[in-house]
Amino acid sequence: MVELPHRSGGVLLRGCGSAAPARSISNEDLGQRVETSDSWIKSRTGIAARRVVGADESLSQLSCDAARAALDMAGWDADSLDLILLATSTPDDLFGSAPRLQALLGAQRAVAFDLTAACSGFLFALITAAQYLRTGAMRRILVVGADQLSRWVDWDDRRSCVLFGDAAGALVLEGSDNDQDDLGGFLLRSDGSRGEVLQLPQVEDRAPLVGQVSHQRGGFQPIRMNGQEVYKFAVREVPAILDNLLAQTGTAADQLDWLLLHQANQRILDAVAERFAIPSERVLSNLASYGNTSAATIPLMLDEAVRDGRIQPGHSIASSGFGAGLSWGAALLRWSGPA
Ligand code: ACO
Repeated sequence: MVELPHRSGGVLLRGCGSAAPARSISNEDLGQRVETSDSWIKSRTGIAARRVVGADESLSQLSCDAARAALDMAGWDADSLDLILLATSTPDDLFGSAPRLQALLGAQRAVAFDLTAACSGFLFALITAAQYLRTGAMRRILVVGADQLSRWVDWDDRRSCVLFGDAAGALVLEGSDNDQDDLGGFLLRSDGSRGEVLQLPQVEDRAPLVGQVSHQRGGFQPIRMNGQEVYKFAVREVPAILDNLLAQTGTAADQLDWLLLHQANQRILDAVAERFAIPSERVLSNLASYGNTSAATIPLMLDEAVRDGRIQPGHSIASSGFGAGLSWGAALLRWSGPA
């Protein structure tokens, strides 16, 4: 019988990184394509510009750039990684892009797989990674949140195309042998019965196969979104899950250093912050520059705030991801930084 290692150690956040395509599309630029204006987009969403991948760029390469920055911050070699989790809904290859990322990084020892939970993906992947560390099955893990929704947006639908952008963010995690733990608690939720409000559904494309038998050809339609319903979902469920998380961990909102929400819409961020009386200086937001980068928003924002010195070692962060599925979750984090 194989004796599995058993520990109930903590999880340490050791390094972060991010990458975004160079090309930025402003609200004014979008006005050349659809009937919209900078003032409409800014006042409804807080977004001023978004990055868009070019035809010669890839999600795997963006993820690799973000991952290398995270590994550099931690001072780790890629071949010290045990696992690579890539949270994405828009892989370069439908079979998964994590193995490609593993090859680009040269992380020969690591097993690599994708995890899909739309805009909640990064948070879901972070919690998944933590379980491997807590059991002692693994020691060092790279979690990447990356999306290229620009490839799946209907650029003629002004109700949705103004919201999204492309980016990748990475976090490297290490198991600890002692009580030190950067994951204070978490909650995850799914409700597929409400999934139709935000979908990237398959195309209906029947083709003859043999004789009378036909089959459905693969392929996807652009994003379909009921913006008002998604908005209502977010402002109802995010405060509720954060409330539960704070109660579960015995944390008061005024003890938090930072609120780090999925960057979907500034109005959602403001509504959640107001619910907990968290002042705007402690609410992280980079929506203006990047828009909603789906699974990338949380690590992209984290990386910016760590590198500009806002987030310091020991700071506590309440984070919540939410999006298609529907799916949502929350985690109480602490930033340790490099050992
Ligand atoms: N420019 C100008 N006018 C617009 C635009 C635009 N880009 N988009 C919509 N409008 C118009 C509509 O056509 C409508 O006009 P009408 O009254 O003549 O029909 C009017 O503005 C109001 O439209 P609403 O859809 O009611 O606008 P709303 O105030 O709800 O704002 C928005 C729309 C910004 C999409 C908002 O509902 C929202 O942010 N929802 C959340 C969406 C979201 O965050 N999705 C992703 C989250 S999950 C994930 O990250 C994958």
